[in-house]
Amino acid sequence: MSHGMVYLVGAGPGDPRLLTLRGAELLRDADVVIYDRLAPPALLDLAPGSAERIYAGKKPGSSTLDQEEINDLIVSHAKQGKTVVRLKGGDPFVFGRGGEEALACAREGIPFEIVPGVTSAVAAPAYAGIPLTHRGLAASFAVVTATRREDTLEQLARIGAAVDTIVVLMAAGRLDETCSTLIKSGRPPGEPAALVQWATTSRQRSLVSTLSGLPGEATSAGFGPPATLLVGQVASLAWELAWFGAVGEAEGSETGGNLTS
Ligand SMILES: C[S@@+](CC[C@H](N)C(=O)[O-])C[C@H]1O[C@@H](n2cnc3c(N)ncnc32)[C@H](O)[C@@H]1O
Repeated sequence: MSHGMVYLVGAGPGDPRLLTLRGAELLRDADVVIYDRLAPPALLDLAPGSAERIYAGKKPGSSTLDQEEINDLIVSHAKQGKTVVRLKGGDPFVFGRGGEEALACAREGIPFEIVPGVTSAVAAPAYAGIPLTHRGLAASFAVVTATRREDTLEQLARIGAAVDTIVVLMAAGRLDETCSTLIKSGRPPGEPAALVQWATTSRQRSLVSTLSGLPGEATSAGFGPPATLLVGQVASLAWELAWFGAVGEAEGSETGGNLTS
């Protein structure tokens, strides 16, 4: 039997309407959809009723399936000649382990396509009213992770000293260390910083503070994952530009985004 095809599809950050047209087209044609915890559940409705839906969701610190099992699942379904959509939160190649899944296919001779998605690294600031670049305030940005590897803190310190706006994914459980590392790298403790949780969804909320104040305030306000941290002068623009909830809400939402100070 000839191999099927694997599509690594970026599902976007949360609002199902942020899926690309290509992603929607592929979901409508899928035999199997293997989806993550942060992929919007409503997108599964696009797949045919006959399509198999397999949850490969991961929570921070635990996982339903480990990465190798997910790779095997993708490869084994494709070897049965099926059209496999691997639906991943945000963009598959931004801290999504999409590269590992694509390599698993490439090494087994299985054809694949990568469909980019709207990453939370750009969607969270957009929905919180924080331009990543802004004339006179920021001319560069970097996207980093705050996961628990020592070298990521060293890398964060280097980036902190070199880049105007810093976007930190997987930051919710490590705000203290992340913000203090940035302060040690030379960023002013009073520099604006914002945390955006559940961006683009009806559960979105944002906290705008300073680098030194944000960790304590986020804990008091009960912020947790999934959240994106933004550090830089541009974060202060949220006070004027936060729009979500004021002029637009995700479909079916009961409440819009709110700005907490
Ligand atoms: C494993 S990474 C996956 C990133 C994903 N591939 C992307 O491009 O957005 C998960 C992290 O993305 C961020 N994230 C994902 N969805 C989010 C959302 N709706 N609001 C805020 N941050 C989000 C959080 O930092 C979360 O810990």
